[in-house]
Amino acid sequence: MREINASIPFDKALWRQDIAGSRAHVAMLGAQGIISEEDAATIDGGLAQIAEEYERDGVPEDWDLEDIHMTVEARLTELIGPVAGRLHTARSRNDQVATDFKLWVRGAIDQMDAGLAELQRALVTRAGEHAESVMPGFTHLQTAQPVTLGHHLMAYYEMIRRDRSRLSDARARLNESPLGSAALAGTGFPVNRETTAKALEFDRPTANSLDAVSDRDFAMDFLFACSTCAVHLSRLAEEFILWASQPFGFVTMADTLSTGSSIMPQKKNPDAAELVRGHAGRVIGCTTALMVTMKGLPLAYSKDMQDDKPPVFEAAGLMELSIAAMTGMVADSTFKTDRMREAAQLGYATATDLADWLVTEADIPFREAHHITGAAVKLAEERCCALDELPLADLRAIDARIDERVFAALSVDASVAARASYGGTAPEQVKAQVAQARAALGMDG
Ligand code: ARG
Repeated sequence: MREINASIPFDKALWRQDIAGSRAHVAMLGAQGIISEEDAATIDGGLAQIAEEYERDGVPEDWDLEDIHMTVEARLTELIGPVAGRLHTARSRNDQVATDFKLWVRGAIDQMDAGLAELQRALVTRAGEHAESVMPGFTHLQTAQPVTLGHHLMAYYEMIRRDRSRLSDARARLNESPLGSAALAGTGFPVNRETTAKALEFDRPTANSLDAVSDRDFAMDFLFACSTCAVHLSRLAEEFILWASQPFGFVTMADTLSTGSSIMPQKKNPDAAELVRGHAGRVIGCTTALMVTMKGLPLAYSKDMQDDKPPVFEAAGLMELSIAAMTGMVADSTFKTDRMREAAQLGYATATDLADWLVTEADIPFREAHHITGAAVKLAEERCCALDELPLADLRAIDARIDERVFAALSVDASVAARASYGGTAPEQVKAQVAQARAALGMDG
């Protein structure tokens, strides 16, 4: 029983929140006259001392004390004697743990959001440097149309922007105080839940005590946001893994984020990126774990809910590492823009530009232009040359409406410059996106 019951090995991570919650609670008990102001002050002094001890020496792990709440209370009793027993008036560990955990998740949201802002800054900085660097854009991982590296990086900026918005939604929904819900039914003591909510920077107290002690939506919301973000980071990591491979050769990753091989002297492996990709699996696993834990629980608290913390702590830790790794990777990688440009020139990436030229300059319906272009690509394939290396005579043999002006449209630079629709890959569009993002991130002072 002792072993299966103990949560102190992991919930000691809640000590700051537990002490903050207790200090808010005891101040309210004193102000409401539920306990004397003198006892409240004694208890508060004891709690302050425990915080100092834990800060200095860490939290002692006595499994007989089960959890962080009992650990703090036991120490308080050692320090101030039986008056410590008054702290738990009008409270239960059920509303206490819900409050502590909410405070912890709220802090984790804020920390993750700050990390994501850093990642966005790195993306925006590199995107600004590479607003004009041409690379192949892919669909089905087949060369599709030339794009700019800046545009590609800004796509991840957008994903992270949505991740931050999901975190901010989660934070707003979380921010109601369970304290004062007691075990499940509320309390007969004349508590003031507004006071404790305010002291702990919650927007308001929760409206239903049964819900308050058994709600873990806030933890699931956080994990959903983590999962989606982990998927984004994994996709970005995958890009770097591909780009760093020799057949691509688009990027050289910083030595600080790569490792060598113990047997192949030439190897430089993208381990950090691979671990970010791997961590996404674990974060999604944490989300699944909590949802499955919660799904069969009747109201109100059940001990199953003690298992809510490890997956949340694990996911938060994995996200912190993954975000830091990707920030470093984006900031410190060397993009091999010559090689990217070369690759963009392969694979008939400007075939759509030929079709668009036929539409614009020769007034040919797009479907027909698409067909003519297909014939030109086929011919170029046979000749093993690029589209703009085909002699004009051969192009005119496919369709007489083609003239020499077409060659200007077939360069990769012309191709990206042409895609100047809002949100498109043209350097001017990318620069506008970057400028807007820099302003949103407060990067220009
Ligand atoms: N250690 C418990 C948890 O983490 C605290 C709440 C205990 N409540 C109870 N009724 N046994 O969930």
